[in-house]
Amino acid sequence: MKKRVLEINNLTKKFGSLYAVNDVTFEVYEGEILSVIGPNGAGKSTTFKLISSFLKPSSGEVIFNREKISGLKPHIVARKGVVRTFQETTVFKSMSVRDNIIIAHQLQAKSNLLGFFFNTKLAKEDTQRFGKSADEIIEFLGLSDVKDELASNLPHGLLRALGIANALACKPKVLLLDEPFAGMNHDETRRCMNMVKQIKNSGVTVLLVEHDMPAVMEISDRIVVISFGEKIAEGKPEEIQKNPKVIEAYLGVEDEELGI
Ligand SMILES: Nc1ncnc2c1ncn2[C@@H]1O[C@H](COP(=O)(O)OP(=O)(O)OP(=O)(O)O)[C@@H](O)[C@H]1O
Ligand SMILES: [Mg+2]
Repeated sequence: MKKRVLEINNLTKKFGSLYAVNDVTFEVYEGEILSVIGPNGAGKSTTFKLISSFLKPSSGEVIFNREKISGLKPHIVARKGVVRTFQETTVFKSMSVRDNIIIAHQLQAKSNLLGFFFNTKLAKEDTQRFGKSADEIIEFLGLSDVKDELASNLPHGLLRALGIANALACKPKVLLLDEPFAGMNHDETRRCMNMVKQIKNSGVTVLLVEHDMPAVMEISDRIVVISFGEKIAEGKPEEIQKNPKVIEAYLGVEDEELGI
């Protein structure tokens, strides 16, 4: 039996009179890559923010390993293992890739961020421990050649990869990636896709929002489709590609965007 890690039950988020997410229910199984797709403004990012507790649902709930996590503070949810990628703005541009990943470990630190900057004894111990873990993440994601590079010197693709590395520093059990391949060229996308596959192979469950349909179809075990805030389909990539409701939702969108 596949183990359910997440249960999204009747999740609803209203902004004023707009139902950004409307009564959405689905499950996520341990170790899978589940993609959430849908046209622009469908409610994908809002769904991710609800799952990671950056937003409070208007109604419905999110259950992680049988525990209700909706309503908890996002850093508590992250500590439990449900982590979304940091925005690029949380990268310290004047620091090296390695130092950025070390800082991202502060979520599980004994000392606080101020301690890191003032180099206290506790912070030194953390830095050593986190340095080792950062080196493992760097090796794991194949970032060794840029580890001493300043973040400000990174091309777009590697900056986003650093965002993923930072998220891994939180030792996620479920990792939520919102458009990780956005703005990437073909080679960068391939490289990042391999990272996502590696992360899955290491036992982390991955939730993905992505507009790059060929990438989604290749990488996903299952797909949930949202349109106007509502779930309209769920299934394996090959089922989703030929689902009439999905094709209708994407009408007006270029065929190759859906990969058909
Ligand atoms: N904080 C907010 N306040 C008001 N409306 C919002 C807010 N966040 C999102 N919305 C609206 O909710 C709807 C869903 O937005 P969301 O960002 O979840 O869509 P999305 O599927 O991620 O779209 P995209 O593919 O363009 O990223 C949109 O109509 C959006 O304008
Ligand atoms: Mg979005």
